[in-house]
Amino acid sequence: MTTVKHKKRVFSGARATGRLHLGNYFGGVKGYIELQNNPEYECLYMAVDMHTITTPYNHKTLREDTNNIILDFLAAGLDPNKAVITIQSLVPEHTELAFLFSSVISVFRMQHLPTFKDKVKQYPSHVTMALLNYPVLMAADILAYKSDLVPAGLDQEPHLEVTREIARKMNDTYGTDFPLTQRFTTQGQYIPSLSGEGKMSKSVSGSYIALTDSLDEIRKKVRSIPTATTAGGQITGGIHTLFTLLKLLSPQDEYQFLQEYQAGTLKFVTLKDRVAEVIFEELQPFQCRRSELEQNPEYVERVIQQGAEKARGLASQTVREVKDKMGLRVGF
Ligand code: TYM
Repeated sequence: MTTVKHKKRVFSGARATGRLHLGNYFGGVKGYIELQNNPEYECLYMAVDMHTITTPYNHKTLREDTNNIILDFLAAGLDPNKAVITIQSLVPEHTELAFLFSSVISVFRMQHLPTFKDKVKQYPSHVTMALLNYPVLMAADILAYKSDLVPAGLDQEPHLEVTREIARKMNDTYGTDFPLTQRFTTQGQYIPSLSGEGKMSKSVSGSYIALTDSLDEIRKKVRSIPTATTAGGQITGGIHTLFTLLKLLSPQDEYQFLQEYQAGTLKFVTLKDRVAEVIFEELQPFQCRRSELEQNPEYVERVIQQGAEKARGLASQTVREVKDKMGLRVGF
């Protein structure tokens, strides 16, 4: 019993912890769109709400937060005619596969992952089994579809290593045919924080610009990025963040501002206001589409339901195959 795959598969997801930000957009969503538009790939993109419950969260708002991720996906240009778009908890095969996979990877390996250690530091009184299992569930998301590629930011690389390790162990032990999934990188695979330290992150307030921020909010946030008093010298911290964003959004401006920076004539406020402007220019069409979609909840629900149906059809074949090869009973 082996699943036949006709096209190369792509899977990716975003956690339902707050609205998407520029890091998610450049590191994740831009890659999702590029691959959905390539007919060689069959793509699945999900709001991964089961991953959200691995750290403290608000169960009263989770359903709405999850829907907001789907709205962000659709407004950013994910197209249900080209990709499966749905919510992870509607595809229970992922959690079943995660349990099966948890039998081939050690607790020790999970405890030593940098991403696990970071979360332990962030939530010391919430170190749960679900948190430890986070990368195994992610491997199940990806391998349920035997995905070849995962468009994602640099921060997800340790999880992809675990995914490949699980695939190898499953193939060696049980004769499955899981691919060794690679990350698909975009130019914006690492967007630094507005604070100038570390990466832009949903869980660090003041570090990000949400895709739904207004021009005023964007301008205020960009103006508060720390910079030196005079231009010139090495580009680090907040100045690096400004130039990274400018490079992605308006390379011709980047060239000009760099010249001024190096000549020592750059006024940071001029650079900041230009960065805010180009961010807003990029986000404006997204924000218009998003408000239209907010008026059409029936359409969004249909996309989610149809996506879940397709995803279950594919994932259930993998689960049956794995159970069979592992010597378990396969139902009717
Ligand atoms: P999440 O929700 O943190 O982020 C969603 C996507 O955004 C990317 N990203 C960034 N890229 C560049 N610079 C940044 N500052 C930045 N911040 C976030 C992330 O790399 C990701 O691509 N574990 C995943 C969710 C997940 C998943 C999966 C991803 C669950 N199962 C299967 C891919 C495949 C996460 O927490 O992403």
